[in-house]
Amino acid sequence: QKEIDVPIIIIGSGYGGAVSALRLCEAGKKVIMLEMGLNWGKSNLPYSNLLKPGQSSAWLKTKSIAPFLNIFSLKPFTGVLDRLDFEHINIWIGRGVGGGSLVNGGMAVTPKESYFKEIFPDLDAQKFYSFYFPLARKELKVNVIDEQFLQDCPFYKFTRVGEGEAHKAGFKTMRVPNVYDFDYMEKEYKNEVPRSAFNTEVIYGNNHGKNSLDKTYLKKALDTGNLEILDLHSVDTIKLNDDKTYTLNVQQIDTAGKTVADKVFHCKKLILAAGTMGTLKLLLHSNAVNNFPINESIGKNWGNNGNFMTGRNWVKPLSGGTGAKQSTIPVGGVDNWDDPDHPFFAEIAPLPMGMDVATALYLQINRVDKKGSVSYSNNQLTIDWDESNTKKMRENADYFIKKMNKANGGTRAHLLFNNGFGANICYHPLGGCVLGEATNAFGKLKNHDNLFVLDGSLIPGTIGVNPFVTITAITEYCMDNLMKQNEFA
Ligand code: FDA
Repeated sequence: QKEIDVPIIIIGSGYGGAVSALRLCEAGKKVIMLEMGLNWGKSNLPYSNLLKPGQSSAWLKTKSIAPFLNIFSLKPFTGVLDRLDFEHINIWIGRGVGGGSLVNGGMAVTPKESYFKEIFPDLDAQKFYSFYFPLARKELKVNVIDEQFLQDCPFYKFTRVGEGEAHKAGFKTMRVPNVYDFDYMEKEYKNEVPRSAFNTEVIYGNNHGKNSLDKTYLKKALDTGNLEILDLHSVDTIKLNDDKTYTLNVQQIDTAGKTVADKVFHCKKLILAAGTMGTLKLLLHSNAVNNFPINESIGKNWGNNGNFMTGRNWVKPLSGGTGAKQSTIPVGGVDNWDDPDHPFFAEIAPLPMGMDVATALYLQINRVDKKGSVSYSNNQLTIDWDESNTKKMRENADYFIKKMNKANGGTRAHLLFNNGFGANICYHPLGGCVLGEATNAFGKLKNHDNLFVLDGSLIPGTIGVNPFVTITAITEYCMDNLMKQNEFA
């Protein structure tokens, strides 16, 4: 077995991994990034759209795994979307070079300052809002849809109807920025370029238009010549050595998921950026199998970012329906965050089914009043999480849907979900390795000198909006300080 010796390894190529790679490579450091998913850009394999999921759509499954419409049988392949199933919650995850940025809706939302301060009382909010958030938005290429285009475009009828109905019910709405390139979108509307957002592409990847991390942070890092990304490399365990270095057992797999090589990597500095669930699995599994040192905060303070899906059927009578053609890129939301009784934010989500199904879909983001925790037993992760954790979220969804139906007609979306509520759908797992609790103030893991956690697990279970802008900004902040402290010298 070959041992590969390198100075710095980053595990995972999502937001945390991509930001750390860029900042290290710019400073002249050589970095190896290990990613279990495929390098889609190099593979030249096309992504699937929502209506015709092919083998690229799911991570080693025999069926596609979108929240709706899964009627296709697949040959197992290292596809771009994965789902982890727990007793009361299913968690969706992006797999591939770019992590979640490949499958997400691109909604690039900066949290409300008051909530950020509540969640991170020890961070300098002024510095975040004047520097780290603007930096994150610039690097991620965040932009906003042109208001006139939105008003005229048939693909955004669902947003116009959603906003109109919300106003009629007395709710406030907000425009939501995105990393999808809206200039490209205007061209696709005119049929000048291949269609992506208007061709039902999103959750299984966008072939065009979306500025995912492979086009932003990772591209810049690769351009320095200092980054090497090894895809289809899945890290199984981490061992802390006596000299405070790390040894990683890694399986290189093929696109059918079969191990083609067992490899051992050895590094002086290790960055864990495998995403909330990936990082927790690596820490807890390594602790179980080879006494890897962890601290009592690991696994605690975990949450679903208040994710709660809901919807309304039969919205047709007053609004005329949500439209047969729908862009996959959400640009509107209901902002009810300042209501002390029912604080929530609700994304006006598309449901592009190729015909007008007169259904409105919402992904609500709520506060997380009761956090969960993640532990490891019998060789797998378990999450302490049940209906008691989502009770208040359900009340908010019920309040929202009732108010919307009263003003606009429609019924709770029994056709989409059991009882009309998708309490178990989670796109935003956060926490479990919280900044300043399981780590020092900049992500260095407690009891370790050379291991840093930089991903969604640093955020204590909730941030009140879609999280990737915050994950990016926090990683920028941590890296800035870690570099100043010469941690990677
Ligand atoms: P992320 O999950 O991005 O990356 C971790 C990477 O590590 C993955 O590529 C994974 O394969 C890899 N990895 C894990 N374990 C490994 C191992 N053992 N060895 C090697 N590699 C390993 N957010 C938002 O702000 N706006 C939005 O619109 C949306 N929409 C959305 C839709 C859908 C369908 C999903 C699933 C998610 C979203 N999100 C979102 C959430 C957002 O994508 C998510 O919060 C971030 O991607 C998390 O970034 P991280 O850096 O924490 O990990």
